[in-house]
Amino acid sequence: MDIIRSVKEMQQWSLARRREGRTIGIVPTMGFLHEGHLSLIDTARANGADCVVVTIFVNPIQFAPNEDFDSYPRDFEHDRALCEEKKVDAIFAPGVNDMYPAPVTCYVSERKLSKGLCAKTRPTHFDGVTTVVAKLFNAVLPDLAVFGQKDAQQARVLRRMIRDLNFPIRMVISPIIREADGLAKSSRNKYLTPEERSNALVLSRSLQEAKNAIANGEKDLVKIANEIKEKITAAGGRVDYVETVDADELEAVEVKSEAPIMIALAAYFGTTRLIDNMVI
Ligand code: PAF
Repeated sequence: MDIIRSVKEMQQWSLARRREGRTIGIVPTMGFLHEGHLSLIDTARANGADCVVVTIFVNPIQFAPNEDFDSYPRDFEHDRALCEEKKVDAIFAPGVNDMYPAPVTCYVSERKLSKGLCAKTRPTHFDGVTTVVAKLFNAVLPDLAVFGQKDAQQARVLRRMIRDLNFPIRMVISPIIREADGLAKSSRNKYLTPEERSNALVLSRSLQEAKNAIANGEKDLVKIANEIKEKITAAGGRVDYVETVDADELEAVEVKSEAPIMIALAAYFGTTRLIDNMVI
């Protein structure tokens, strides 16, 4: 497995593989890998990637000044061992100066899907994500990109970026991986105290209960969202948002029809902000 630190070296590595006719899959991450990330590697292989490149880069420009960029968990040696085990072909782990050698004055900005949900409390976040992922695409030159459904809004925004900016990349969205008790896997789960972690189970549980209610004929999605908010608050969480939206366009939907909807939520347990969602 190669460890690549510079954009130029990454491009040369990928161009050499492409000349050999091999397809490249990219799994972009911020490191501190867990089973959720490892499932993305499997998804890349299952979708025909001959080579898989995992990128590990904690991207400063997607964090607001009051957010957890400095304390975001990092453990490169652990990540490297997991990637070796998964037979990843290369890790691309640039430093901040490699990715942003000069002050950034050019950003990629999606203007619809990136405006609601998480953007209401993280208004600069998605410009940081689209900008860095465009740069990662230009470094890794992939045929295939895999993102997780856990970050559902991010996945929709990036799918739109690929379409609108004509990146010649097929994107696959991989399902959420959960702990045995339902908590969606996330690098930020590490911040939770045992009590907060136990309280946070309300997220997956209330989503599942909402799904059951809809299966039993409930069509009032405003009521569904309000019930989830009440359950989170009763469990000691602080709701950021609970919204019912069209699963692709992320527009608000108040009455369930045949079309798939997504219930998306974010809530704080202690100081940790968790997100989760379910497509129904
Ligand atoms: O989902 C993440 O880990 C990040 O937002 C991503 C896509 C790697 C961009 O920094």
